[in-house]
Amino acid sequence: MVDCTIIIFGITGDLTKRKLIPAIYHLLKRKKVDKLALVGVARRQIKMNKLLNAAKPFIKNLDAKVFKKLQNAAYYRPFNFNDPQGYSNLKEELEKIERKHGLKGNRLFYFATLPHHFGFISHNLAKKGVTKSKGWARLVYEKPFGHDLKSAKKMNKSILRAFKEKQVYRIDHYLGKEIVGNIALVRFTNRIFEPLWNNKHIESVQIILDEKLGIEDRAKYYDEAGALRDVVQNHMMQMLALTAMEEPKKLTAKRMRNEKANVLKKIKVEDILLGQYDGYKKVPKIEKNSKTETFAAIKLRINTKRWKGVPFYLKTGKKLDKKDTSIHIKFKKVNCLLAYCPRETNYLEMRIQPELGFALQLNSKVPEKNIVVPVKMDFCHECIFGKETAEAYEVLLEDVIEGDQSVFVRNDEIEYAWKVIDKIRAKKLKVYPYKKGSVGPEELKKFAKKHNMRWRI
Ligand code: BG6
Repeated sequence: MVDCTIIIFGITGDLTKRKLIPAIYHLLKRKKVDKLALVGVARRQIKMNKLLNAAKPFIKNLDAKVFKKLQNAAYYRPFNFNDPQGYSNLKEELEKIERKHGLKGNRLFYFATLPHHFGFISHNLAKKGVTKSKGWARLVYEKPFGHDLKSAKKMNKSILRAFKEKQVYRIDHYLGKEIVGNIALVRFTNRIFEPLWNNKHIESVQIILDEKLGIEDRAKYYDEAGALRDVVQNHMMQMLALTAMEEPKKLTAKRMRNEKANVLKKIKVEDILLGQYDGYKKVPKIEKNSKTETFAAIKLRINTKRWKGVPFYLKTGKKLDKKDTSIHIKFKKVNCLLAYCPRETNYLEMRIQPELGFALQLNSKVPEKNIVVPVKMDFCHECIFGKETAEAYEVLLEDVIEGDQSVFVRNDEIEYAWKVIDKIRAKKLKVYPYKKGSVGPEELKKFAKKHNMRWRI
């Protein structure tokens, strides 16, 4: 029987209502946990029910009985992170709540606060024995994990002084997405891909994370972060690592993380184009002369034998013409044996969102004509498995409860990724403007021409 108490620090934030409470609700609904208690902790005075109700619009097909069950096991505790007595009180409260609900003392501490509180809160939780109980204690840290290599190192150091790496779960919600979780499986469970997954057969790789959304109500955070820190350092680097890693002997957490880290430390950035959408500087709370990038296109290489000579292209932006997250593997052209040679080459496309699936582009002859055209073998995820695929946060919380770290990021992976971002940022590159709803700055065309490539979308 699985049970636990989920303690969320910084529960009044947006993430809780949009993602965490719906995910916890679904864990109960799908009976992934038999029993749980939810304890929200933050500075403000607020009623837990208000927080739960604010999450309702984000819960699909709400079942009133399950929601009631959640309400009956949810508590709020106002808490000043700087007050040492608060930690001792929290320890007592948790024991009381666990006794009341007959829970075994398994505790999941979720850090949804600003990252500069991570080290301090962790230290006090350990010092005051809040993480000591009859069950397990696991600590989940939201992104951003630091804002550069130095701060990430400092954070890792103070967390690992208080806890063991095997208790630490650094979230990258992209790793909880169905198709991202599937990258390694597609590569390593299909005979047809792995033998071709190298520089002999692959010409280039594109990883795309385009968004229609702007910066919403996160102006202050975003203006300090920019696209490089916000999504490249984490989501895009993780997709890259999964796509490019060597085959681990087994798909276990430790071996996969070793292989991902090996990719991240071998990255060499060759070209970068940064952009900012028109009107960004007029968003309230954004610096009037902000040079923050809302768009980035990057060409990089991975210095390993497998990838020698293969360029990897990354592209992301806010306020673009569409939402699309996908990975495109372009295979090399075959030797042409015909009088009519195919113009296109093979592609494997992994669609992460908004649609989920894979497609393999092949060449095929047009009936009664001597022409070869590209056709697609398409796997539509929803058509086969339905629309009820678990959301990323539900997958991630379930894995924490099961003690599976494979979809969480290890300290060294985070630090290698920051090294790449720090180097790019240190160049202080020019940021080109682009129109909202476009594909990015005009200079993107030059970028493609210079590298003799074509963006897939
Ligand atoms: C978050 C970034 O980590 O990822 C956001 O902070 C971004 O700026 C979001 O919009 C994208 O995630 P998703 O799941 O909507 O693709």
